[in-house]
Amino acid sequence: MSDTTSEHPVNNKSASRRESYQNALAGHGESPKALQWSSYDAAAMRYRQLVADLNIENKSILDAGCGMGDVLPFLYGKSPNFKYLGVDITPDFIEIAKKRYAGYEFEIFNPFEDELAQKYDIVISSGVMNFNTPGWEDERKKMIERLYGYANEALAFTMSGWMQESSGGKKIAYANIPDMLKFCSSLTPKVILRNHYSAKDFTIVMFR
Ligand SMILES: C[S@@+](CC[C@H](N)C(=O)[O-])C[C@H]1O[C@@H](n2cnc3c(N)ncnc32)[C@H](O)[C@@H]1O
Repeated sequence: MSDTTSEHPVNNKSASRRESYQNALAGHGESPKALQWSSYDAAAMRYRQLVADLNIENKSILDAGCGMGDVLPFLYGKSPNFKYLGVDITPDFIEIAKKRYAGYEFEIFNPFEDELAQKYDIVISSGVMNFNTPGWEDERKKMIERLYGYANEALAFTMSGWMQESSGGKKIAYANIPDMLKFCSSLTPKVILRNHYSAKDFTIVMFR
């Protein structure tokens, strides 16, 4: 796999997202706040939802936008038998992840712009599709479609969103959950929605 930053020009959106995470890391150090999670609890709540419906035994798993790889203990809690690759556009996170979770694979890579060499049984992605930029709704749908394309069996993702309308912040946009569910259901009829855990976040699992 290639390093996105060295082989391909990174588009402006990706570059500014990476810069925003690099600044957060510089300001907060190796904490969940560097990933722009408000706390470890906020991150862990999402990891739990992400893995809850997945059978990971002997599966290959791609973590798209893996940050510091902190979903790994939650995967490992289900089974130690899986093959994992975490990819992210922020090089410093990849370096930290390699140290934190030695023995697992991590690469600097943008799976939304560059082609992966292979498919994975399961694709997971937590908090990567939350940015509030012009056209974000269509962008998120394209991102979901792309990630689902890499999955032989299942895609699980978390996203900021609401059932009862809630305004977005400056950085984060909240998706209309029924609209996202309808979109995911147009790709596969086998869909699980988890939205009981937060008024402003949801998880969708899509199975082939
Ligand atoms: C909110 S953090 C979540 C990190 C991790 N999934 C977690 O939950 O701990 C979002 C992550 O997505 C990464 N990211 C954003 N856009 C990306 C892209 N186009 N390709 C790969 N990673 C991306 C950021 O660098 C950041 O690490």
